[in-house]
Amino acid sequence: MYLFGASGHGKVIKEILNASGIEVQAFIDDDLNVTECAGCTVMHESAGLTPMLVSVGANKTRQKIVERLRNENPGIRFGIAVHPSAVVSPSAVIGEGTVVMAGAVINADAVIGKHCIINTGASVDHDCVVGDFCHVAPHAALCGQVHLDEGVLMGAGSCAIPCLKIGSWTVIGAGAAVVNDIEGGVTAVGVPARSK
Ligand SMILES: CC(C)(COP(=O)(O)OP(=O)(O)OC[C@H]1O[C@@H](n2cnc3c(N)ncnc32)[C@H](O)[C@@H]1OP(=O)(O)O)[C@@H](O)C(=O)NCCC(=O)NCCS
Repeated sequence: MYLFGASGHGKVIKEILNASGIEVQAFIDDDLNVTECAGCTVMHESAGLTPMLVSVGANKTRQKIVERLRNENPGIRFGIAVHPSAVVSPSAVIGEGTVVMAGAVINADAVIGKHCIINTGASVDHDCVVGDFCHVAPHAALCGQVHLDEGVLMGAGSCAIPCLKIGSWTVIGAGAAVVNDIEGGVTAVGVPARSK
């Protein structure tokens, strides 16, 4: 597996892959000054390299890199990384390019999109739908049947009560409690969460 993004987030993904018995061949990064990451070589060309995981935490940046890599190499395959301590229901679906970190829980019939991050200790309960390029940050909790549109960031320690919908590219602040639907393209913080 190759990791695009020689970052702190990338180091964590490398360790998840290693813990799952998957070797990381190299990191790739646009920054020519970065030559080593977590004991791996950092390359600066991605042409022909597959399978790949984009190890960039910012949702919009991750989306742009995925599009770029697809344009460069239409045959590219994207991997999945799931930490051995994560609990993933056999009925859950996880899209390509997605990372599930240590201690995360994904319950029955949840559908996680492509290139998502389900971060350390996060929980995604039954029948949730998590759109492509979302990030459920450390210890955030989605109750059952929550629907996140594309690119949502659920900040660290935030939660959403059952059956709510959060619109695309919205940011939910750290520690927020979402108790009503939230529209797309906003930042919402607090308890209860309100748009800033
Ligand atoms: C919500 C958030 C995106 C706002 O960032 P920002 O636009 O740069 O906002 P600022 O830091 O300038 O703060 C603006 C105001 O919002 C308040 N605020 C910021 N984050 C808040 C939060 N999570 N909850 C409540 N209030 C918050 C600030 O106190 C400040 O209030 P003031 O105007 O009364 O002083 C950010 O603080 C946040 O919570 N991000 C989540 C990060 C995260 O969990 N990432 C996961 C990494 S693994």
